[in-house]
Amino acid sequence: MTAMNNTETHQIWPRVTVIGAGAMGAQIAGVIARSGRDVVLADTSAEALQRALAMLDSRWESSVTKGRMTAEAKLTAYQRISTTTEPVAGCAQADLVIEAIIERVDAKRDLFAAIGETTPVGAVLSTNSSSFVPSQIADVVPNPGRFLGLHFFNPALVMKCVEVIAGPDTDPQILDAATKFVEQIDKGPVVLRKEINGFVANRILNAVRDEAIHLLEGGYASVTDIDRACRTALGYPMGPFELMDLTGIDIGYLTKTARFEATGDTRDAPSRTVTDKVRAGHLGRKTGRGFYLYDEHGSKLGESPTTAAEGDPTHG
Ligand code: 3HC
Repeated sequence: MTAMNNTETHQIWPRVTVIGAGAMGAQIAGVIARSGRDVVLADTSAEALQRALAMLDSRWESSVTKGRMTAEAKLTAYQRISTTTEPVAGCAQADLVIEAIIERVDAKRDLFAAIGETTPVGAVLSTNSSSFVPSQIADVVPNPGRFLGLHFFNPALVMKCVEVIAGPDTDPQILDAATKFVEQIDKGPVVLRKEINGFVANRILNAVRDEAIHLLEGGYASVTDIDRACRTALGYPMGPFELMDLTGIDIGYLTKTARFEATGDTRDAPSRTVTDKVRAGHLGRKTGRGFYLYDEHGSKLGESPTTAAEGDPTHG
């Protein structure tokens, strides 16, 4: 660990490895590169790494065009990112590891067990999980005091919040350093002093989502009108269905499944509508169909039929 006792201006954790080059991991790597740190972006899929770099290139190019970033800053940030298809080896030099792989606790535990054996014992290990609290993973690493949650929001290049989640064993000094790290990467930390499933923002978001689904399933209003109410009556930047399409309907499904498994409370289980969409492979923007339909450029075409069977006669 690099900077527990240093001044505010000292760069905390200058070498970061982000594991998982999906929608979250790619943008987290971009945020960290923009903060002047060296980032290793690791994913077993070379294709996912290519897609991640192309996405960052295109997002940053658009910022340059809009005059929000200089061409030089773009080049510098881009050059700070290196990639590897060997996630465990990619952590060997890291001061901080941020895991952003699939939301399955077994996969995360297996990964951290392997990383725990090879990373320096002082390296801080964190998960971007939206479902799992640190104590569900930390016991697989030597020195679980260095383990915590760092939960970013989608799209991570834009959203300011990062939840910093302490497990029961997390060293308070590491929690403090993580909070400063989040500020240094130009985000706003929200500290969870103790574990609770869903943390702060997703618990509130889920309550809104549940009510939106309740209104839809009860036939009270359409997807479009529920979204419109949230935007035009409540000032939300996007409605709950538009947001599920952005973040991935499967992510919300896995989050609720994990919560249901933890609590056994049927109110925590994924809704019928969401389950049917996941089974039909209608996962939102990334598949071109979710609660809305999208063209190949990502432009919204209109509302997608939302039926119990999602148009598949083998379901329902
Ligand atoms: N990736 C990166 N940047 C994006 C983006 C994306 N997918 N979509 C939009 N942006 C950028 C644009 O490039 C633009 O940047 P600029 O200001 O430099 O030009 C900026 O965001 C604004 O975009 P737009 O003008 O096109 O559109 P909006 O004003 O509608 O903003 C939005 C888009 C930022 C996505 C906004 O609609 C929003 O804040 N939506 C709510 C997002 C939200 O609630 N996220 C939390 C999800 S929950 C979660 O992540 C939890 C996890 O556990 C799943």
